[in-house]
Amino acid sequence: MTEERTEQPEPTEGVSTRNEQPARPVKAAAPQGPLPIVEVTDVSRVFSNPEGEDFVAIKDVQLTIEDRPGKGEMRAILGPSGCGKSTLLNMIAGLDLPTTGSVKVKGKEIKGPGPDRGMVFQSYSSMPWLNVLDNVAYGLKLRGVKKAERHDRSRQLIKRVGLEGHETKYPQDLSGGMRQRVAIARSLAVEPDIILMDEPFGALDVHTRLDMQNLILDIWDEREATILFVTHDISEAIYLSDKIYIFSTSPGHIIEEIDIALPDERNRELKHSARFRRYEQIIMDKLHELSQEAMEFKVTM
Ligand SMILES: Nc1ncnc2c1ncn2[C@@H]1O[C@H](COP(=O)(O)OP(=O)(O)OP(=O)(O)O)[C@@H](O)[C@H]1O
Ligand SMILES: [Mg+2]
Repeated sequence: MTEERTEQPEPTEGVSTRNEQPARPVKAAAPQGPLPIVEVTDVSRVFSNPEGEDFVAIKDVQLTIEDRPGKGEMRAILGPSGCGKSTLLNMIAGLDLPTTGSVKVKGKEIKGPGPDRGMVFQSYSSMPWLNVLDNVAYGLKLRGVKKAERHDRSRQLIKRVGLEGHETKYPQDLSGGMRQRVAIARSLAVEPDIILMDEPFGALDVHTRLDMQNLILDIWDEREATILFVTHDISEAIYLSDKIYIFSTSPGHIIEEIDIALPDERNRELKHSARFRRYEQIIMDKLHELSQEAMEFKVTM
């Protein structure tokens, strides 16, 4: 199924999604103005299993994130387990290459990881031989930032993620949620233009999760960074992002783009608003529909 991209007016009554609009070809006009910061075109990724059989993990994925001057975009990916969310994020990070199609950052084909992109992995990715401070400062060290400065900048971030006092601890002495906060601080320390986060808050308790969501909103605002993150939490996706991509399985592809037209100023009250709840309902229905289809697919196979 091909993703449909159409201009969407600001919703007045309730909310609407891209697929409710009349279709327009994906590759319509030549781009005007600045190049998109991220451009994924016709991307498929095929893995081979040990028996040598091909498995199409994602197919014909299209995704464009515009480079708006003075303001980054915050976008979320939602979709069932195994639909290829991590696969896509890995390719934008440059940790994997598409089988067909292209992934570009600021107009340049991605050939590998780069300092312009920071990644927070789905599983904890701290370096066990370094303490919290050195884990956070690691990227700065690679860039040749002097010890005093990198420690100073890292301490500030450690404080912001709520780990002050834990600087000299090693990852194995931290809880899962604390380790994930170290990973978040480490990716933020090098101030990348694009921050990729794969279920960054999954291991956190509700209270810390809300704190971290607000921290990400602050950082996004301060740094004008572009953020693309994967989550299984519908409310989190709506709260944080301007646009949500919904992925479907068999093979993974984007079936819907939902623009989130909520005030830029996000706060807890917003989560109780009628519009927020309407978005939750639409997305929940969509994901439910997908899981039903997946069940039918399994039964009829
Ligand atoms: N290196 C690999 N070799 C073979 N198959 C792979 C590889 N990486 C991913 N896959 C397969 O591709 C599919 C998509 O995996 P991926 O990790 O991207 O899913 P996901 O959407 O991130 O799932 P989850 O929500 O559970 O994290 C899965 O079926 C997975 O088994
Ligand atoms: Mg994943």
